[in-house]
Amino acid sequence: MKEAAQANGMGIKPLIRVLQGQREEIPPIWMMRQAGRYLPEYRQVREKAGGFLNLCFNPELAAEVTLQPVRRFGFDAAILFSDILIMPLALGRKVEFLAGEGPKLEPMGDADALKGMRDQADGDVFAPIYETVRRVKAQLDHKTALIGFCGAPWTVATYMVAGEATGDQAPARHFAYRDPEGFSRLIECLVRGSIDYLVGQLKAGAEVVQIFDTWAGVLPPEQFDRWCIQPTQKIVQGVRAQVPGAKIIGFPRGAGAMALPYAELTGVDGLGLDWMFPRSLARDILQPHVAVQGNVDPLALLAGGAALDREVDDVMTLADGPLIFNLGHGILPATPIEHVERMLKRVRGN
Ligand code: CP3
Repeated sequence: MKEAAQANGMGIKPLIRVLQGQREEIPPIWMMRQAGRYLPEYRQVREKAGGFLNLCFNPELAAEVTLQPVRRFGFDAAILFSDILIMPLALGRKVEFLAGEGPKLEPMGDADALKGMRDQADGDVFAPIYETVRRVKAQLDHKTALIGFCGAPWTVATYMVAGEATGDQAPARHFAYRDPEGFSRLIECLVRGSIDYLVGQLKAGAEVVQIFDTWAGVLPPEQFDRWCIQPTQKIVQGVRAQVPGAKIIGFPRGAGAMALPYAELTGVDGLGLDWMFPRSLARDILQPHVAVQGNVDPLALLAGGAALDREVDDVMTLADGPLIFNLGHGILPATPIEHVERMLKRVRGN
């Protein structure tokens, strides 16, 4: 019976079905940064853990905050609680999260700084994260999928080079123009580390992985191809060589006109759209090739009311094709919980 159910798609979780190219009557829904500061129960656990990184490396508490938004809202996916900047830590770089200021790393001004870095990621750093994945997986029901993730090499490199978020990521872009060979060594190192890390998460029980390229949009087309598309393509191929058929979502924020080549050349199953991406183009040009995910403006969710309703309805124009309902970037910490409830009600019609 169980096999028959799986053969006709009944036993497959809705998020996975959409990534196989099918359409769901009510799209599966989750939110980027769904485990986070807008939830009082998250703030409480972070306090108990004694800071953000301690929380990331505590499997019991990290599993708890991963599950909090799923319990509260009944999302169709849980996303592993961790951070993309675990990767530089595993490569032997210093990373700190200062409350209210965001991440701080030792900047890498030039290729000389690569000497102070491991060329193989330290598996001991990833071990507690895999343990979180196992614990979450054991607690999920039959319809909720578990998403693992990493930062794309370009985005992780922007933080490693500048040492912090800078807006236009000028330090990394400057490095890449000045010394493409040196920069390429950094990117290759991140490609290898990301393959290991994603394979580790998939083997621990993640059913989908998302590659966050938050800073893809600052790259002009030729650079976009070299530092965003090509490394992502290598990760997708490297992961699938070890986990055949692995389901992968790419989120090249700000890709604009490069979204279609990104989807076609990387081979991702799902394309995360930022809030700026025109939905008519997503429907006509992207959905024939790839499932799309997105793309409510996080500020419309913050505002709520009629502005939010209009935004939700506009995203739902994509529901005639394969759609994962999501935001166009992470939820903002000041977002009222009632606005999330309102959005869910409008999507699900209950
Ligand atoms: O709920 C989830 O989405 C899972 C956990 C998750 C976090 N970060 C937790 C987090 C995920 C998937 C990320 C990804 C991430 N981290 C990205 C890519 C996505 C994006 O939002 O652009 C980036 C660029 C980072 C790096 C990072 N981490 C920054 C720039 C910051 C500071 C800014 C901020 O939002 O505070 C973080 C901190 C961070 N990562 C927090 C959380 C919940 C806030 C830390 C806290 O609790 O104080």
